[in-house]
Amino acid sequence: MRIAVIGAGNVGGTLGRRWAQRGHEVAFGVRDPSRGADAVKGGDALPAGASVVTPEEAARGADVVVLATPWDAVPDALRELGPALDGVVLVDATNPLGPGLTLDVGPACESGAERVQALAPRARVVKAFNTTGFSNMADPVYGGEPTVMFYAGDDPEAKSAVRLLVAALGFDAVDAGPLARSRELEHLAMLWISLAFGGLGRDIAFRLVRR
Ligand SMILES: NC(=O)c1ccc[n+]([C@@H]2O[C@H](COP(=O)([O-])OP(=O)(O)OC[C@H]3O[C@@H](n4cnc5c(N)ncnc54)[C@H](OP(=O)(O)O)[C@@H]3O)[C@@H](O)[C@H]2O)c1
Repeated sequence: MRIAVIGAGNVGGTLGRRWAQRGHEVAFGVRDPSRGADAVKGGDALPAGASVVTPEEAARGADVVVLATPWDAVPDALRELGPALDGVVLVDATNPLGPGLTLDVGPACESGAERVQALAPRARVVKAFNTTGFSNMADPVYGGEPTVMFYAGDDPEAKSAVRLLVAALGFDAVDAGPLARSRELEHLAMLWISLAFGGLGRDIAFRLVRR
């Protein structure tokens, strides 16, 4: 798959590097591409199949665009991508964090993902990768068993593509339903954050067990 990763910090850097290592073509869209691999967190050299370009160059012709910027940068980042997002699968990995690690759910209590969809109405938005820490994206396996990654969206084809990308990292990929379920996924992210920063540390993850 041709994947554009917008925001090459802890989350974007980790996800993009791992997909490139698994043979995907990954373009990191960063604000200052002249920094090269230095702009991409998670290592020194870039894996083969990865490149560093502007966000617009990364998104042009991509099958999947992954949004991994801070929440307050989302409107600008989407505006810059403009028509490059038309029809594309847009993975929203962000969490709409407000001051003091609160969830900024907006006046209508909608999710960040629904607001991303409103800002990019022609994209096919899928929420994923927001409910666990970036170190679990580097290694989602605990005690030999995968941990869970939920995804939510309204377009079945887009969700199938995201499911493949989730599973490629070693997560147990679980369809959480339509995009509106992002409301629950963003609250689940807050639970992970409050547990991790409340004393348990980053080496914790959720698992879904089935009888
Ligand atoms: N950290 C986690 O464990 C975790 C887990 C799940 C979800 N999330 C969510 O994922 C998102 C990213 O978190 P993070 O921890 O990866 O943050 P981070 O390490 O601070 O990285 C953010 C990246 O976004 C880039 N950026 C900022 N504004 C941009 C713009 N307008 N256009 C393009 N790139 C832009 C920054 O680039 P510069 O270097 O140019 O500033 C930086 O590389 C957040 O919404 C967060 O809530 C985080």
